[in-house]
Amino acid sequence: MVKMNVESFFPENIKTALKKNPPGAWMADLPADCIRLSSGYPDPALVPAEQIKAASATLIEEEHDLPLHYLGSPRMIKLKKQIQNRLVERGISIQEDEILITAGACQAIDLIARVLLDERAVVAVESPTYMEALEIFQNYTDQIITIPVDELGMQTDVFAAVLEERKRTGLTLPNFLYTIPTFQNPTGTTMSLERRKHLLELASEFDFLILEDDAYGELAFNENPPPLKAFDTEGRVFHVGSLSKVVAPGMRIGWIAGARSFITAFEWFKKDLDHPFAQATMAAYLENVNFENRLNTLQATYRIKCDILLRSLEQYFPEQVTWYVPEGGYFVWVKIPGIDTSQLLEQALALGVSYVPGKFFFVKQQVGTEYLRLSFSYADKEEIIKGIQKLGQLFSRLLK
Ligand SMILES: Cc1ncc(COP(=O)(O)O)c(C=O)c1O
Repeated sequence: MVKMNVESFFPENIKTALKKNPPGAWMADLPADCIRLSSGYPDPALVPAEQIKAASATLIEEEHDLPLHYLGSPRMIKLKKQIQNRLVERGISIQEDEILITAGACQAIDLIARVLLDERAVVAVESPTYMEALEIFQNYTDQIITIPVDELGMQTDVFAAVLEERKRTGLTLPNFLYTIPTFQNPTGTTMSLERRKHLLELASEFDFLILEDDAYGELAFNENPPPLKAFDTEGRVFHVGSLSKVVAPGMRIGWIAGARSFITAFEWFKKDLDHPFAQATMAAYLENVNFENRLNTLQATYRIKCDILLRSLEQYFPEQVTWYVPEGGYFVWVKIPGIDTSQLLEQALALGVSYVPGKFFFVKQQVGTEYLRLSFSYADKEEIIKGIQKLGQLFSRLLK
């Protein structure tokens, strides 16, 4: 038999992408019973399994085979309407044909990257940022500009200076900026109102688009500024949302809300790579839930769990350690000066507790070694206290 050269079948861009770390390299193998302070998953008690079971039963009873066909159930249209209504609640007024439902926010990010980027394109991201989005962009281009984040979100004045300099020296300007302005992953920070307005001015002045990832936007502990899309008068912002963090990630429901001509292009490439049955089931579920009440419960639960984690950090972590206090979302971003958190993960796992080493959220991983991301969403209250106590002992020993 002729030996096949698998490599020879891949185009250059795919060969380059396959040389990088495999997707999910940041996700350690967790021992059984590990306290998962690494996982950005919803609290298991808040995933509405019984209601989703009832919704799928209703769907089949009422519509028989319809939701199981290619074109799916009329409830898929209803889901768009339900999402449109939620967007209105958040100050985004948009028509139904300006919304594209996707298989989670990740498919939305991938579609936008696929349609707007090639290997010559430049994309700007926050530093640090959501590692899966980084993995997606790196599949399309190596030209990634990073803009630092502080407690008020992305530093738009730094971005302005970068754009100015690139323009002056004739370098390519970014095609789009990827930002998570509200309860950022991993820092938990929220971009101030002033910076939001500044960012939109920059987009207009330097003619780029904005991919606003709002996966955590509805999980606020207090008042927070409206999404960037609410200020978008020129159609430059793609508002990407998700029901993963507020309902169930396995349903894979996300969306892009954006200008119609872009939505048409994204739809062109999405084809039917999403899930009609999951979408129809989600619509049936949403018909029977008071979503405002649900959100209130989620916000109250995560606020309490976040407080428990923050109080435990104060109690058990050495005093050199610092962190941002989040106003919502799932995460707390911690800095342990002088310690490479990726080197310590194995010891933490041996103690039965996980975190994500900070370096994975940076394009240049060496700048992120002193950080780690903790999640208060998945573990229960007792586990959070116990997990932080164990990590505190580990770090205290090393910082002595
Ligand atoms: C910032 C951000 N965007 C998107 C996602 C993924 O969302 P989905 O499950 O809808 O693909 C996550 C999940 O961790 C996230 O943190």
